[in-house]
Amino acid sequence: MKLTFLGHACFLLDDGTHKVLIDPHLSGNPLAAAKADEVESDFICVTHGHGDHIGDSVEIARRTGAKVFCTVDLAGAVYRPAGIKAMGGNLGGTAAMPFGSIKIFPAIHGSGVAGGLACGFVIEMGGKKIYHAGDTALMADMALLDEENIDVALLPIGDFYTMGPRDALRAMKMIRPALTIPMHYNTFPAIQQDPHAFAASAREAGFAAEVLNPGDSIVL
Ligand code: NI
Ligand code: MN
Repeated sequence: MKLTFLGHACFLLDDGTHKVLIDPHLSGNPLAAAKADEVESDFICVTHGHGDHIGDSVEIARRTGAKVFCTVDLAGAVYRPAGIKAMGGNLGGTAAMPFGSIKIFPAIHGSGVAGGLACGFVIEMGGKKIYHAGDTALMADMALLDEENIDVALLPIGDFYTMGPRDALRAMKMIRPALTIPMHYNTFPAIQQDPHAFAASAREAGFAAEVLNPGDSIVL
């Protein structure tokens, strides 16, 4: 089970059989580690309708035949009108997938589409559980993830649009994942942060944290 950071909030999960791409904002991101016309995927998870999360998902789905997984509102507003196969669930729901499962976890953030809600995902793949928080504020509900035994938490630290480093640390302490990886920083001027300072604070608090540069992978 390999997890690769492609920049901003984009990650690629690969269990050797299936490739799950999350929030592929590649074109227009100078820090992206892959090009939209070369990245492979079987499923594309999209947390909400803002441009830095939808990114190149339509084009990648068209080229690769990947199925998009998102909320029903986002599927109806963006993907189905574009002729893209989309699985539209809703908050709290879990979908069985060929590689495991995806649970749609709440996020507190604008959805980018009328009537919709932003979300995060708990993805079970290769016997591991990955929590991708999406764009979100800190919320007490994250404490519920402690019982999910999260292996890797992908948490935004950019501030301004999402949690900043301090709130991300509070989130981590509630979730108690085996490993935390910061995301959603330094892509824009408004979200400049030092991810290494965040990781150092996480370690001081007794948690494992790792900063991935775009293009870096870890094997779980
Ligand atoms: Ni957003
Ligand atoms: Mn964002």
